[in-house]
Amino acid sequence: MVTSLDKMWDTIESNISTSKDKKASYFIPLQQFLFTFLSRCLLRADTSTSPEIEKSGHIMMDKWLALQLLPTISINILQPLEEIFLHSFTYPFWLIKSDYQKLENFVKTQAKDTVSRAQTEFQLTEEEAIHNLIFILGFNAFGGFSVFLPSLLTNLGDQKSKHEELRNEVRQILTQNENILSFEAVKQMELVNSFVYETLRLNPPVPSQFARARKDFELASHDAVFEVKKGELLCGYQPLVMRDSKIFENPEDFVYNRFTKENGGEELLKYLYWSNGPQSGPHGPSASNKQCAARDTVPLTAALLLAYLFQRYDDITISSGSITALQRAKL
Ligand code: HEM
Repeated sequence: MVTSLDKMWDTIESNISTSKDKKASYFIPLQQFLFTFLSRCLLRADTSTSPEIEKSGHIMMDKWLALQLLPTISINILQPLEEIFLHSFTYPFWLIKSDYQKLENFVKTQAKDTVSRAQTEFQLTEEEAIHNLIFILGFNAFGGFSVFLPSLLTNLGDQKSKHEELRNEVRQILTQNENILSFEAVKQMELVNSFVYETLRLNPPVPSQFARARKDFELASHDAVFEVKKGELLCGYQPLVMRDSKIFENPEDFVYNRFTKENGGEELLKYLYWSNGPQSGPHGPSASNKQCAARDTVPLTAALLLAYLFQRYDDITISSGSITALQRAKL
């Protein structure tokens, strides 16, 4: 992760220095970082072995994602035209077929060990393994982080007055860990983790979840009980749930240290639902639980990104999707 982050921030620094207005958008370098890093950690595949994938793998994924998501996303054109022309049919696969085949070929040739593990340990065919790996890499991981990390960076830009405190925490803990950035070190950074959790609370990357009741049951809120019948379709809307004023004080405000121990943070993690389930307690997707498989690694990865930035820079200014100033840490 750190190797790919080095590349991302070297690119951003160089883009800033060569741009006329001394700023650079982070979105494309961020997506390139995500594609490289996630290919490595989920597939054990090295993107640098294929120049075309290295350069455009993230764009191929974006196109494949767009084709699936466009029928569900509102782009605010005049209704009912949007419903009739954009939301009423599945888009044809041939539109992105050639890019998808390049991704398939990349997984088949560069993720051989992972594909063969899927075959031997999980009895999938080679074809099933490849499509499943593309799905988890592209939809779950790359798609999820491509929505989440920009909102994290936006909040970081907005909370400039808190940078000093965050930077002090990062550097103090890194000093105790021989200046090695690791998940173990990042776990000790209470404020950094709280900042990440608060972003997930106010900007859950996947706002809606659906499920069908498997049996009759009663669903209780603070002050009412609803009878749900087997087979009924339920929808959970995260942005509303995580702004419950009976649980979260000043629920609309970004409170960067809301989740620290001092502020009763552990108790609040029970009500942090971005992963389609609570952030604390037993975890693991199973036949009866479709909570995100990466409930713990997603916030930790985001915390590592923040810690990386505070280790690398003495000052960072972010505004409207761009980095507008960076000052490297003095060695
Ligand atoms: C910021 C990134 C991510 C976000 C926002 C996210 C969000 C979610 C959400 C909301 C669900 C529940 C979907 C539903 O029930 O309708 C889910 C499920 C899932 N996620 Fe994630 N996810 C992220 C990253 C990842 C990563 C990195 C992985 C891969 C290791 C992953 C693997 C999964 C899997 C396998 C499921 C389905 C679990 C099941 O149905 O049994 N996710 N994710």
